[in-house]
Amino acid sequence: MSAALFTPIPLRDVTVRNRLWVSPLCQYSCEERDGVPNDWHLVHLGSFARGGAGLVMAEATAVVPEGRISPWDTGIWDDAQVQAWRRVTDFIAGQGAVPAIQLAHAGRKASTYREWSGRGTVPAEDGGWTTVAPSPIAFPGYEPPVALDEGGIADVVEAFAAAARRALDAGFAVLEVHAAHGYLLHQFLSPASNVRTDRWGGSLENRARLLLEVTRRVREVAGDGVPVLVRVSATDWIEPAGWTLDESVTVAGWLSEAGADVIDTSTGGLLLASIPVGPGYQVPHAEAIRSGAGIVTTAVGLIADARQAEEIVASGQADAVFAGREFMRDPHFALRAAHELDVDIDYWPVQYRRAPFDARPSLTHAED
Ligand SMILES: Cc1cc2nc3c(=O)[nH]c(=O)nc-3n(C[C@H](O)[C@H](O)[C@H](O)COP(=O)(O)O)c2cc1C
Repeated sequence: MSAALFTPIPLRDVTVRNRLWVSPLCQYSCEERDGVPNDWHLVHLGSFARGGAGLVMAEATAVVPEGRISPWDTGIWDDAQVQAWRRVTDFIAGQGAVPAIQLAHAGRKASTYREWSGRGTVPAEDGGWTTVAPSPIAFPGYEPPVALDEGGIADVVEAFAAAARRALDAGFAVLEVHAAHGYLLHQFLSPASNVRTDRWGGSLENRARLLLEVTRRVREVAGDGVPVLVRVSATDWIEPAGWTLDESVTVAGWLSEAGADVIDTSTGGLLLASIPVGPGYQVPHAEAIRSGAGIVTTAVGLIADARQAEEIVASGQADAVFAGREFMRDPHFALRAAHELDVDIDYWPVQYRRAPFDARPSLTHAED
């Protein structure tokens, strides 16, 4: 049988073998606090590639040290990190999946404790730092950030470009700009966190300027062949004071002109909000951006079932689906989805052939 979910999708020079992709998942596991990925990251990301995912997106990876959500985040600002990432990208590509990386700057939501180490902002005496943002408005419960000046904003743009270059050098085949979940680029987009009166604030054009400049520079680095995704939060869920779906559709069109190939559509994260969470609750946002901006779009959020994912792609609500927690529960989610949709795939790991999903209990190899 065939399924829309298992139809390859071409993006510039890259063809992804299916449309069930691993969403970026922060692991907060660089114990040395040096941004260098380690065995945990290799096994975590590698297992999804072995498990049949089409594209495996590495977690929000900071473009500069002060852009880390926590001191334990991965980074892509130095050569040691590039070297370490190569081992991860080699393995993912060796399994036939596409290694992708989410380039990130946390802005005012940086320098925080990971869940199992503390709460709120990490103080300087414990290795924390002063955060930056469009305006000196704190995320509730965190220390206030310092507003970036013109020079600081130019440095952010160049940091994304340099990180993109390093990411390609590290073997990533797809780049994603993280402009969602209340992090720096989203902070510029939303009027709830950006009250600037210069060319970086006020009108939609001004609030979107930084994201567009970053995207243009990342496209320059990526050349013609490498796909660039942008993850957006399509709404702050605090209309009319916050960022809205209508604005997202408009900016998605501008992003397309700036060189983005795919809008990875999430929501929320700028402020605490009441969100009607349920299966596929962000799919309508992806659909609105896909039809409104005419750009390849992905859906994410409580998509944890093969048939649900198939329906989203087959009905044209999105071109591909990202899943996060279901892959963490079962790294072989994609292989299982192929089985449940009765699709023949040629990338079942040969080492695992003796463990098909429909194996009869009596199946044994006497000589082992
Ligand atoms: C442990 C964890 C870490 C996450 N890290 C990131 C991240 O690095 N970047 C990002 O854009 N989203 C991150 N997210 C959000 C997921 O990528 C995804 O959008 C969200 O979990 C909804 O999808 P799901 O219901 O399939 O898990 C994270 C979610 C979880 C649970």
